[in-house]
Amino acid sequence: MDKRIDGFSKLSKEEKIDWITRTHFKNSSAAASQLSSYWNSDPSLQTKHDEFIENTLTNFYMPLGVAPNFLINESLFTLPMVIEESSVVAAAGNAAKFWLNKGGFKTVVIDTLKVGQVHFMYKGNPKLLYAFFEKNKKTLLHATSELTQKMELRGGGIVSLDLVSKTTALHNYYQLNVRFKTADAMGANFINSCLESLATTFENLAAKETFFMEKEASIEIVMSILSNYVPECLVKASVSCSLDEIEHQEGLSGKKFAEKIVQAVAIASCETFRAVTHNKGIMNGVDALIIATGNDFRAIEAGVHAYAARNGQYTSLSKASIIDDQFTMELILPLALGTVGGLTKLHPMVGWSMELLGNPDAKKLMEIVAVAGLAQNFAALRSLVTSGIQKGHMKMHLFNILNQLGAKSVQKEAALNYFKKNTVSVKAVSDFLHSNET
Ligand code: MEV
Repeated sequence: MDKRIDGFSKLSKEEKIDWITRTHFKNSSAAASQLSSYWNSDPSLQTKHDEFIENTLTNFYMPLGVAPNFLINESLFTLPMVIEESSVVAAAGNAAKFWLNKGGFKTVVIDTLKVGQVHFMYKGNPKLLYAFFEKNKKTLLHATSELTQKMELRGGGIVSLDLVSKTTALHNYYQLNVRFKTADAMGANFINSCLESLATTFENLAAKETFFMEKEASIEIVMSILSNYVPECLVKASVSCSLDEIEHQEGLSGKKFAEKIVQAVAIASCETFRAVTHNKGIMNGVDALIIATGNDFRAIEAGVHAYAARNGQYTSLSKASIIDDQFTMELILPLALGTVGGLTKLHPMVGWSMELLGNPDAKKLMEIVAVAGLAQNFAALRSLVTSGIQKGHMKMHLFNILNQLGAKSVQKEAALNYFKKNTVSVKAVSDFLHSNET
């Protein structure tokens, strides 16, 4: 069967499904009905989801769970978490409970600056370029005023515009480096529109200068785009309590437990293999909230990991210390988030999640997300330095194993009971099911 096709995007949804299932599946009608079984029974809701992307055939479920009891700056929150990995939501809830009676989480937004760049090539005299830029800087900024006016009313806009030479890294490469504030929007469209307008104006102004007219000295715009690296869009979350307040943890005294957490963070700070997994645990919490609130988790992931490597070595995003018998953990994250625009108005479950969080503005959402990351990090380390990760993880995974093995509901009930006291593994669950066949 020929798997090439022209004009696929122009086919109707039914035609696309028909072609896909006939071309790629052994049992095309089963494949087609699997797709339709995931459609929403409300056609208008389904259309909304269809229209988020192109060539939509069906929906792909992710569970939305909630983690209650998060005390953040004296207010209580229940976090919506969209994630497929078992035990993450439970871990968040446990961490929230641990810190609930120890002052909870404290947060502060450090700054909210975002960056965009017009990348261009110029082979002429740098002095002439800098003089031209200084002479025209106001005109350049003025050219974006139609775009920036509304954003300025909301407290955002262009914060700085600089000409930067990158010629030591790449021959003839310069950039217009622009810093923005985008209020409650993530701001990608606003930033990119401003940059493209700057680039066009820059080129047009240059075309009027005689020295740029020489072929050698012309300005050649390569591209204009925002950066997902946001080391000036930072939020800090922290927790702190005295060692006396920490209950025994699986046989460890509170002091020993805190010391082991400090050691674990020190290891992640100097050892890249560990740092990546340590930070992955943080992102379990971050991404779950980012998805639930309709933000762009790829942008956040890219920016966070670049930040973790900002000093030339990839390192732990969190810190932990014991000073004067006071145990403290803190996490600083670069988070460019939006609570308006994008999916936030379009996806009904995003609206639901936002209402659950009390309809936070972008800064508040940065704080809540950083807390989710810190909670997840604390919970992971708590397991790792005490019982090990598998005990809790496999307990949570039990349901998945039971489903995989096709357990009936009576068997599931019996298994949940049995594995309260026994170690979970695929083999142990399979053996249990065989000896408890109904
Ligand atoms: C698993 O999803 C995340 C952990 O590996 C994080 C960590 O090791 O810190 C448990």
